[in-house]
Amino acid sequence: MLVNPMGFIQEARQRGVAIASFNVHNLETIQAVAEGAAAEHSPVIIQTTPGTLKHAGARYVAAIVREAAEEYGVPMALHLDHCPDYDTILRCMAAGYTSVMIDTAHLPYEENVEMVRRVVAEAHSRGVAVEGELGRIGGVEDDLVGEAAFTVPEEAQDFAQQTGIDMLAIAIGTAHGEYKGEPNLDFERLSAIRAVVDLPLILHGASGVPDWQIRESVKRGICKINIATELKIPMAQAIRDTFAANPGENDPRRYMGNAKKAVTEVVRQKIRLCGASGMTDEGGNVQ
Ligand code: 13P
Repeated sequence: MLVNPMGFIQEARQRGVAIASFNVHNLETIQAVAEGAAAEHSPVIIQTTPGTLKHAGARYVAAIVREAAEEYGVPMALHLDHCPDYDTILRCMAAGYTSVMIDTAHLPYEENVEMVRRVVAEAHSRGVAVEGELGRIGGVEDDLVGEAAFTVPEEAQDFAQQTGIDMLAIAIGTAHGEYKGEPNLDFERLSAIRAVVDLPLILHGASGVPDWQIRESVKRGICKINIATELKIPMAQAIRDTFAANPGENDPRRYMGNAKKAVTEVVRQKIRLCGASGMTDEGGNVQ
């Protein structure tokens, strides 16, 4: 069953670990994430951007993810990533999404707060969780191309109090997409935010961040880690390798099957890195 993620995110927070949240694009990536989470006995979040909804459709995605949750028996949430508009949020909640991110950081502060409050009221009336963001994560995702603006702790505190969000994404030096050089996260800022915001904190743009920096972030209070690019790269590489080895290959079950195995492997590594392996028992309950 798909669940609101706050139960297992709060549990992760208490244990000092993080839940991995993976951006998916199609049937095979959903299966790979579910298979990896089941193998690691970990809760997991599957997320889609609005761009993926245009590609695959919210109802198709929700139907496949619901099935995956049943099939693999792990606590699983379906989350809408970086959504700037209210109607798409309503459509996803109607389709069965259990968590949404409202991203209207481009608006003036008071309007941003107003919009987030509206989403929180609607989502909470349906038992759906809400992620907000303060500061801006740089890099490229869908049509979002942006310069980073680091989160200011006092502003984050005000934003959390005024909006009633369940969890907060913060900008401390990560970016969406591939990094040009090694990222250098601002851990002092993370700890300062942690000290004044009593909510689960989220790290976007985790692909390409060295493992030690992910571990340090989790130690300092990050409870959800977002990963997109690091699944796309091995998936594309596995498909390229399949065609390089056999240029005449035309069976999607073989080239997509190889892609699925490669993605599952990375999903397992990331869950281990977050410290969430073994959080669930054989029955899929958080233990
Ligand atoms: P990456 O593509 O850098 O992993 O970012 C994922 C993300 O933050 C999704 O919101």
